[in-house]
Amino acid sequence: METTAFSTSTIPGGELTRGLGRVLLTEAEIHQRIGELAAQISSDYAGLNPLLVGVLKGVIFFMSDLLRAVTIPVTVDFIAISRYDAQRKTKGPVRLIKDLDETVEGRHLLFVEDIIDTGLTLNYLLRILRARGPASLQVCTLFNKPEHRLASIPLKYKGFDLPDRFVVGFGLDYRESYRHLPFVAELRPEVLQLDTA
Ligand code: IMP
Repeated sequence: METTAFSTSTIPGGELTRGLGRVLLTEAEIHQRIGELAAQISSDYAGLNPLLVGVLKGVIFFMSDLLRAVTIPVTVDFIAISRYDAQRKTKGPVRLIKDLDETVEGRHLLFVEDIIDTGLTLNYLLRILRARGPASLQVCTLFNKPEHRLASIPLKYKGFDLPDRFVVGFGLDYRESYRHLPFVAELRPEVLQLDTA
């Protein structure tokens, strides 16, 4: 018996899935890879009680699956950012709108991301965290789009490389839709009207 309505690479019809193109990663493939990442992290960080940090909201799906597969004690915390410029009503520079509750100094930080594209967002956040004096700072991303990388990121753990396409599901949204799909699919070009601002 399948665990959800979306366990295969065939997309069922319906309102939620109408705008989707090809499935790039199935739920089973994603879960298998998360298990492998969790095993590696559990081994590398044994005895270090790392602090896993994620950016709301997209990472919650990956973070919760990763945490449940990790077999060592860890602490988790989240930050939130905004890329919206209220004055100009367009995309603006990244701003931190919710900081960590945990202190960073002397801790082993593992930054957990859903997707890295240009790397500019993450680069900005890593600079802020590095300035707080962690004992170590590494990055784990589930999805990686290497083609437009503009900032150098210390990527220690990576789930999947993705092609330069706009994809949704497993935390990734298009205008706040599709995040909760348990697989990753391309968005059909006719649905995709990326903000150029
Ligand atoms: P970066 O600063 O270019 O690395 O931006 C990364 C952010 O862009 C992610 O946190 C996502 O919010 C967004 N993003 C990049 N590619 C995609 C995609 O294919 N689907 C959904 N969001 C994406």
